[in-house]
Amino acid sequence: MARVVSGMGTSHVPGVGAAMDNGKTHEEYWQELFAGLEPLRAWHRKNVPDVNIIVFNDHATSYSLDSYSTFTIGVGEEFKPADEGWGPRAVPVVKGHPELAWHLVEQLMAEEFDMAVAGSLDVDHGLTVPLSIAYDQPDAWPAPVVPVCVNVIQHPLPTALRCYKLGQAIGRAVASYDENLTIGIWGTGGLSHQLGGERAGVVNPDFDKQFLDNLVGDPLANTKFSHTDFIREAGCEGVEMIMWNVMRGALGDTVTEIHRLYHIPVSATAYGAIILETG
Ligand code: DHB
Ligand code: FE
Repeated sequence: MARVVSGMGTSHVPGVGAAMDNGKTHEEYWQELFAGLEPLRAWHRKNVPDVNIIVFNDHATSYSLDSYSTFTIGVGEEFKPADEGWGPRAVPVVKGHPELAWHLVEQLMAEEFDMAVAGSLDVDHGLTVPLSIAYDQPDAWPAPVVPVCVNVIQHPLPTALRCYKLGQAIGRAVASYDENLTIGIWGTGGLSHQLGGERAGVVNPDFDKQFLDNLVGDPLANTKFSHTDFIREAGCEGVEMIMWNVMRGALGDTVTEIHRLYHIPVSATAYGAIILETG
């Protein structure tokens, strides 16, 4: 049987990927962040699962604002890097795991989650930057990926509670997969940030820290925030944090915190990352 063994929450700020792609990580602005990432990367070097399920959002790269699915699973053999605005990053193609992906689709549909299914899905910074954060700059990513794309762009968005329940259902679906695989699950995006409008640049360390603490000790508290709560407390794009609830839901009742990083500023955001192990 497959089992979810660990989870990571991480921001997916495109500038972090660009700093790596352009050899700028030793510049003063980036030094502290990348030094802080080192223990997290050391953990990833030692703990590569058989498959990573990466919960991310598309930023109007593959989807257009005309047509957004709430939850999508990528069932393809591979997913090409792409990005709105800057174009594709020169990072390895992301290999999929169609068999596990189809199993998730079938189990989630049976549990009344009406998943969209994507045979081809170009993946933007929401997915490729977390891979770079975890695995640096390899010739190939060390584990295949099942992408789970959540709409946090075009309202109405799924609720924080719905995202948590989706994660729980993913956990159950993994546990019913008939092969002995270890699974990592990542939630990307956040933490507090707003990219435009009057409050552009808003960050809220108190809210972010509470959210991170809740992930460890009281995950249901993070399901009670409305979208308006997220937007008020963490800025318009801070609502990306609902994707961390999918990750947390899949980990089960109790988790152990392995690493945490919180750093301001990274671009316009508070950069946050956490690694959790089940049990
Ligand atoms: C930034 C953060 C994001 O999550 C994103 O999708 C785009 C930009 C930023 O802080 O620059
Ligand atoms: Fe984003």
